[in-house]
Amino acid sequence: MKTLIDSISAEVMKAFTDSGYDAKYGKVTLSNRPDLCEYQCNGAMAAAKEYKCAPFMISDKIAEGLKDNAMFESVESVKPGFINLKLSKDYLASVVTSMKEDEGRFGCDKTDDPKTIIVDYGGANVAKPLHVGHLRSAIIGESVKRIGKFMGHHVIGDVHLGDWGLQMGLIIVELKERKPELVYFDENYEGEYPKKAPFTISELEDIYPTASKKSKEDEAFREAAMEATSELQAGRRGYRALLEHILNVSVTDLKKNYDNLNVSFELWKGESDAQPYIPGMVQMMKDEGYAYMSEGALVVDVKEDTDTKEIPPCIILKSDGASLYSTTDLATIVMRMEDYSPDSIIYLADQRQSMHFIQVFRCARKTGLVDDHVKLAHIGFGTMNGKDGKPFKTRDGGVMRLEYLLDEINEEMLKKITENQKEKENLDISDEEAKKTARMVALAAIKYGDLSNQASKDYIFDIERFTSFEGNTGPYILYTIVRIKSILAKYQANGKDLPNGAILPAHSASEKNLMLVLSRFNAMMENAYEELAPHKICAYIYELANAFNGFYHENKILAQEDESIKDSYISLLMLTKGVLETCIDVLGFSAPDRM
Ligand code: ARG
Repeated sequence: MKTLIDSISAEVMKAFTDSGYDAKYGKVTLSNRPDLCEYQCNGAMAAAKEYKCAPFMISDKIAEGLKDNAMFESVESVKPGFINLKLSKDYLASVVTSMKEDEGRFGCDKTDDPKTIIVDYGGANVAKPLHVGHLRSAIIGESVKRIGKFMGHHVIGDVHLGDWGLQMGLIIVELKERKPELVYFDENYEGEYPKKAPFTISELEDIYPTASKKSKEDEAFREAAMEATSELQAGRRGYRALLEHILNVSVTDLKKNYDNLNVSFELWKGESDAQPYIPGMVQMMKDEGYAYMSEGALVVDVKEDTDTKEIPPCIILKSDGASLYSTTDLATIVMRMEDYSPDSIIYLADQRQSMHFIQVFRCARKTGLVDDHVKLAHIGFGTMNGKDGKPFKTRDGGVMRLEYLLDEINEEMLKKITENQKEKENLDISDEEAKKTARMVALAAIKYGDLSNQASKDYIFDIERFTSFEGNTGPYILYTIVRIKSILAKYQANGKDLPNGAILPAHSASEKNLMLVLSRFNAMMENAYEELAPHKICAYIYELANAFNGFYHENKILAQEDESIKDSYISLLMLTKGVLETCIDVLGFSAPDRM
């Protein structure tokens, strides 16, 4: 379905050409004075320069030309040359009716040019607990992926585990101190290694922090860990087998954590998977003359003439021949091109990594790892801060683990929901349902709290505000959906089927406003995809929820006497619910039946 703004523009452009002016001046925008009009066209001002006349002479003519157009209720020419438009109620009703008939899509067509897109997000580091820093990557990445899928693209999410760093060596060395008898440490062992991991997840969770602490205090321990890391990377059998175990145990635990966030990945690849691609890639970069030695390291220049700040060369190999974060990311590009030949790769990572991605992207392009048409994008996100404006910490100042944070919010939500239920005397809700509902609402609170900000901005994680049922919050959106669900359930209470007739022209300003907001859905979604901007969806559903609640408070719905009006209201509610639910699904959360 064409976007409403394009349909309106087409009419106004036609009026421009009919009056002898260039169509380009007929572009319409959403009104910035909703008190005066719904849409506006400011093209007469620009056209006046070309046609050397007063703008209002043009706007008058256009208004005259559009005055009998069935799309509009009113077209006004306002000095100096604005064209103010209000849509006819009949036309708007036909738009929302077609939206409702377009089940599941609500007028938002899938692309006719589907692209293959890899979204690299999550970025958890194996054996290290997920902390709140990983939360943003998971939340935003999941939504970006879902937006792409909704628009009809082939989108593949890859968690891209950090499984190739010093933490592996640290774990190996610490494990060796604890269990030196393990066969993995015997260099002469040639047999098969046991299938069962020599540790549980809770042991693993204890091993890493202990080792990390030791390495800061004990130089010899640190060196041993570095040595183990390079032996592992060089392919020592026993260590490779341990890596497998660490990965398996860790991934099982990570999946559970990501599940709780309603986040899932198509691919569970890690940095280690890219290693086999490094030698060939490095050789190519040398052979083709891109890479050269500088201060002992192998580098590729990536600066460009138009740079306004210094972009240092991309280091491919360190002086000791070891690979780096950039090497791994480049080799991962090689792997992804071979496996999926994607049209674009989108990375979610802290904004502070932006230089790294500039270097990697430029290097990949320059050395031909990707074709010109392949888009590489880094969505850099800001920091999640506590109320003190500093990076979010536990009460005692430690790094906040994701699980604890979720537990805390689930608990807070359960309290609120139980209170709410007492107030409403909904005492038939079981403890189990209350808990499940609390988890759903808590997730909405966290995700909406994050996604409603532009990704690049830092934001303050304010549990109280995020969990509030009022204001621009996830729970408020869910509350609105629950309210609609409950009205629909009451309507159906006596076995009555939901209506499927046309939605009637609006009977009140609040109803028309609701229709106006609904009719912007497809354009909003297209824009959110183009800009990879979930916050646009949040802003939209907040406006939609407000428009619905305005309508709800000003009109009798179930008590409406005229049955055809009542049915039309119910249809409008069904559409509103459908659009809201589609949006929150794309944001990565869902609504309970009651709360
Ligand atoms: N593991 C990294 C971290 O914890 C994030 C990885 C981001 N993705 C990438 N391809 N570099 O910071």
